[in-house]
Amino acid sequence: MFQKNFYWGAATASYQIEGAWKEDGKGLSVWDVVSNETAFVFERQTGNIACDHYDRYEKDVEIMKEIGLKAYRLSFSWPRILPEGTGRTNQKGLDFYDRLIECLLENNIEPFVTLFHWDYPWELFLKGGWMNPDSPKWFEEYAHLVAERFVDRIKYWITLNEPQCFIVLGHLDGSHAPALKLPLRAIFMAMHNSFLAHGLAVRAIKSVDSKAKVGYAPVGTTFYPKNGTSKEIEFAKKLMFGKSDESLWNVAWWLDPVFFGKYPEEGVKKYEKYMPEITADDMAIISQPLDFFGCNIYYGIPVEEKDGELLCDKSPVGSPKTDMNWPVTPEVLYWGPRFFYERYKKPIVITENGVALKDWVMDDGKVHDTARIDFLSRYLKNLRKAAAEGVEIDGYFVWSIMDNFEWAHGYEKRFGLVYIDYESQNRIIKDSGYWYKKVIETNGKDLSY
Ligand code: GCO
Repeated sequence: MFQKNFYWGAATASYQIEGAWKEDGKGLSVWDVVSNETAFVFERQTGNIACDHYDRYEKDVEIMKEIGLKAYRLSFSWPRILPEGTGRTNQKGLDFYDRLIECLLENNIEPFVTLFHWDYPWELFLKGGWMNPDSPKWFEEYAHLVAERFVDRIKYWITLNEPQCFIVLGHLDGSHAPALKLPLRAIFMAMHNSFLAHGLAVRAIKSVDSKAKVGYAPVGTTFYPKNGTSKEIEFAKKLMFGKSDESLWNVAWWLDPVFFGKYPEEGVKKYEKYMPEITADDMAIISQPLDFFGCNIYYGIPVEEKDGELLCDKSPVGSPKTDMNWPVTPEVLYWGPRFFYERYKKPIVITENGVALKDWVMDDGKVHDTARIDFLSRYLKNLRKAAAEGVEIDGYFVWSIMDNFEWAHGYEKRFGLVYIDYESQNRIIKDSGYWYKKVIETNGKDLSY
C-alpha cells in the first residue's frame, strides 16, 4: 500500500513549458540559442513559446487542482532569475516564481523545485560552462539566492536533473544543448564540476533552511531479473552498479560519488587518465547528506538465465514500445526502487515516470489515451508492490502534467496527462488525467480502468 500523505504528483521543466524566452528580462539559455540557431531539434522547433505556461500558469494550476494533484514538480529557469547566470538578479523572473508558488500553495499543491533542468545560462556557457573551475560556485550562488527567497514556502528541493543527459548528451554526443562533442578529458572535468555544484547547492539550501528536504534526480539504465531468480538478481545488480560501461550511462558512476563520497573503483581504473585531480575535500562536498533519492525511471532491460547462461534479454519481435521507441517494462518500477533503496538507503521519490503516445483529439473532442492508462496502471501496481514489501517510497510524479517540448524531438512526442493544442494553446484533460484523479482519491488502491 502507499503510505498516508503520499505525494501524488506530476512534473515539468521550465524550458519545456514556460515559453516567454525573452520576456521580462530573462537571459538566454543554451537551449534557447541552440534551438533557434541550429537545426538539431525536430523541424527546427524551439521552446520560445512552448505551452506559454509563463502567461497561463493560473489556468495550469487550476487543471492540476481539478486532477487532484497533491504535489507538482517544476524547475526554475536559472537565466530567468539570473540573466547572466551570476550577479544581477532579474526581479521580474523571481516575481513569476513567487506568483506560481503562491498559486500552488493556495491550492494545497506541494511544490518540489528542481534547481537545474538543463537550461544553462548562455553567458556562463561562454565562460566555459561546466568546464570552468568556478562553475560549482556559480551554481552555489544561484541555489543560495533562491533558497533565501523561498525559504518559507518551498520544502522540497532537487539539485540537478539527470546530469547524465546534460553532460553526456550535451557535451559528448552533441544531441542535446549545448550540442558539443568534446574529448573525454573535458567530459570528466564537467562531470566532476557538476557533482561539486550539486554538493555546494545542498549545503547552501541547508544553511538557509536546515529542515529543507533536498534530493538529487539522476537517471541510468535499470536492469531487472526477468524471472526473479537469485542469479538473475545478482547479475542485474552487477550490470547496474558493478561496472562502468563505455556509454557512461552506468548508475553507480553517477550515484556513488553523491551517496558514498567515492567514484566506483572499476570506473576510476578505466578512466583515471582522463579524470581531473580529485581531493578528499571535493568528495566531502559532493556527498553532503541527502533526504531523498529522486528516481527518473521509464523502462528497464530484463536479464535472464537461459541454459545456465546469463543474458540481457532482447524484446521479442512485436513487443510493446512507446512513441519514444522505449520498451514497456512495468516490472522496472518494482525492481528499480528495490535495488536503489537497498544500495543507497534513502527514501525514494519517483520524480518521473510516464509515456509518450500518438495522442490526438478525437471526433468527440476528447483524448482517449487508453494505452497511457494501461501503462501507468501496470507501472503503479509494481511500485505498490515494492512499497508493500517495505521500500520507502514517498511520492510519484507522472511525466508530465502536460504535453511539452521534448528536447531534440520538439513537440512531436506527447507525454502529458493534458493535451496541448499548440496553435490555440487550448488545454484538454486526457482520459488518463481523469483516471489519475481517481488513483489519487483512493491513494492508489484503485488502479483499475
Ligand atoms: C528526461 C527529462 C525530461 C524528459 C522526459 C521524457 O528524462 O529526459 O528529465 O525532461 O522530457 O524524461 O523524455
